[in-house]
Amino acid sequence: MQYPCFSSRIRGVVLALCAAMLNTTAAAQNPLAPIYVVHKDVTYARDVAPIMQQKCQTCHQPGSIAPISLLTYDDAKKYARRIRAKVSDRLMPPWHIDRTIGIQQFKDDRSLTDAQVAAIVDWVDAGTPMGDPRDLPPAITFPDPNRWQLAEKLGQPDLIIRSKPYTLAPHTQDKWYRPVVETGLKEARWVRAIEVKPVRANDRKIVHHVLAYLLQDEDGVTGLASSAHDHQSNAGLFMEWAVGKTGQIFPEDAGKLMLPNSRIRWEVHMHAIGEEFKDSQVELAVYFYPKGYVPQHRTVLRMFDVSRGSELDIPPNEKTVTQNFYVLQAPARLENFQPHMHMRGKAMSLEAIYPDGRKEVLSQVSNFQWQWHINYVYATEVAPLLPKGTTLAFTAWHDNTAANLNNPDPGQWIGWGDRTVDEMAHNWIDVTYLEQAEFDKLVAARKATLPRKVVP
Ligand code: HEC
Repeated sequence: MQYPCFSSRIRGVVLALCAAMLNTTAAAQNPLAPIYVVHKDVTYARDVAPIMQQKCQTCHQPGSIAPISLLTYDDAKKYARRIRAKVSDRLMPPWHIDRTIGIQQFKDDRSLTDAQVAAIVDWVDAGTPMGDPRDLPPAITFPDPNRWQLAEKLGQPDLIIRSKPYTLAPHTQDKWYRPVVETGLKEARWVRAIEVKPVRANDRKIVHHVLAYLLQDEDGVTGLASSAHDHQSNAGLFMEWAVGKTGQIFPEDAGKLMLPNSRIRWEVHMHAIGEEFKDSQVELAVYFYPKGYVPQHRTVLRMFDVSRGSELDIPPNEKTVTQNFYVLQAPARLENFQPHMHMRGKAMSLEAIYPDGRKEVLSQVSNFQWQWHINYVYATEVAPLLPKGTTLAFTAWHDNTAANLNNPDPGQWIGWGDRTVDEMAHNWIDVTYLEQAEFDKLVAARKATLPRKVVP
């Protein structure tokens, strides 16, 4: 069931437009006139329970990744204050893209609408009323937390590749485990979707991130589908994973190329939490396009370094800004935005500076949370189309003061490093290079349909 009301806060008063109200006479007379009613009687059963089901419980249930269960009324009542705080600060559900800057349409957006936030806040402020239990939505059965999330859309993967097992001691320094494994692939195939995860959902507690590099001999691999490939004649990174990330399905005209006898070089960053994790493994699901299908474009996951690696220099009790710039050598479409920083990471933005000098901020995360590496995948109709010669300008902000609630020690000098107490700043973006003619065609189609100006 959808939350039936749309509401907004104006001068502290909650105004709500309820779907049910649309049948009133006034609405019938003038369907465009807004009908605002103060929404006073929010109840758990009718208004809050459906939100918990749709937006919270996959993670907030026993055996999943969140620390508290939110399956029942009693759970929600018990944690009401914390829920109100996390939801109104937009820390939960984890989705930290700035809602006032840049592109706003994403695939798999798990955030709450303004109306849903207002409903939860009002419910807590009203003293957490249960309401009429007959309004409760039927309980839902949740899928196995160990499952492939893409299975819902694509079925079981065509190929599963596992890292070698590693046992992490209860107390130890952060570990970077880098085994190389064979893919077992005997022919070239184009990849349609990829998902990475720890084999056991519970191991998400220790696996900070996973990188999977595709190792293959690219000599002689040119002109496979398009000459635009020549701008990126290497396999690049196959997939990156960190807590909060789901699988990725590439747009229909794009994919990744896997060659026979390829191998995966894993990098698994683990973080001890006081208990032993025996034989921890991560795994990769690969979904292929049908045999013989060659997508028009080859997409490559690229790491855009923002803070110029070792130049990162964050004094105690200070905030810093770093920037880096890349000029696109061919027209391109960006498929996603995924900032990566650590505990002092505060914000990151991506601005396009077009060849004619016009500028546009494409995306910004203003309240970065290092525990969450969320991949904001642009909806197909708004994924930025950028002409050759566009500069990608990345800006990263680090906050090493006590005002940053994630900061374990504002007295430390911080430099670049692999540990979560060191810093980084980069962005993982899947870049799809386009041929000029196709780019022009896509841009023309966009211009016809979009209010937002996407090209000069
Ligand atoms: C993608 C998984 C996920 C979703 C969806 C999610 N949470 Fe969480 N939540 C977590 C994890 C993991 C933590 C602990 C780490 C953190 O705080 O970031 C957490 C922490 C919390 C906490 C703090 C718990 C404590 O111990 O104090 C609250 C409250 C909370 N979530 C409420 C919610 C609510 C309400 C929703 C839905 C509107 C929601 N969460 C959706 C995963 C999730």
